[in-house]
Amino acid sequence: MKILESRMPQHIAIIMDGNGRWAIRRGLSRNLGHKAGVDAIKRAIDSCIKFGIKYCTFFAFSTENWKRSKEEIDGIFSLVRDYLRSNANYFVEKQIKVESIGVLEPFPQDLIQSLEELKQKTKQFNRLTVVFALNYGGRDDLVRACNKLISQGKEHVTAEDIAASLDTKSFPDPDFVIRTSGEQRLSNFMLYQMAYSELYFPKIYWPAFNEKHFKKAIKKFQKRERRYGGIK
Ligand code: IPE
Ligand code: IPE
Ligand code: MG
Repeated sequence: MKILESRMPQHIAIIMDGNGRWAIRRGLSRNLGHKAGVDAIKRAIDSCIKFGIKYCTFFAFSTENWKRSKEEIDGIFSLVRDYLRSNANYFVEKQIKVESIGVLEPFPQDLIQSLEELKQKTKQFNRLTVVFALNYGGRDDLVRACNKLISQGKEHVTAEDIAASLDTKSFPDPDFVIRTSGEQRLSNFMLYQMAYSELYFPKIYWPAFNEKHFKKAIKKFQKRERRYGGIK
């Protein structure tokens, strides 16, 4: 089966899971797993460009990931910061817009600054939008949206009001969710936005995910029949 350009998902959301297990299997530290996970992000972005995907969201740190050890969390922060800095030119060259969802405030100041600079530098691009979910939780997103609407004095809200108050307000809902490592759950990712997303759970650990797996995922998506509650 060939990939059909006319049936590409517009927005792919990736739950990058399995970094720790990938590393432990190799006798490495969990943080080396996260490091290898960063390389997989680069490959996935290249694949998105190749296949003409318009939006790709990467779940990098959840509101629940604060439960991990300080050592692991600090390791992730420094990988994210280094990644943003060392890839700034790449995003500009490839005309990729960088965005984020989630509450950045608890992150180290230099990470926030690197991210904000990159967002600013790439805001005019629209070839591909890469969204990093950082300190993101689907429930937290909804709670913050509700509080925004309350503070605007709303007494009655519509689905459009909610969508316009979520962190994802500028992006279409994900068409396709890929969670690697074989776990079959959403772990509090974009709960509201994934109402009609197609879900796919390949067994491969995230650091091993490459263009071949990406291609296979797209083929799986193209075989799905999306009905949205109707009849085909
Ligand atoms: C996903 O890999 C990356 C983050 C949550 C930051 P994990 O670290 O969850 O890897 P496993 O699930 O322990 O293998
Ligand atoms: C989901 O993975 C979060 C990210 C990939 C950032 P987790 O590894 O944190 O999820 P659980 O704990 O297995 O559900
Ligand atoms: Mg995990």
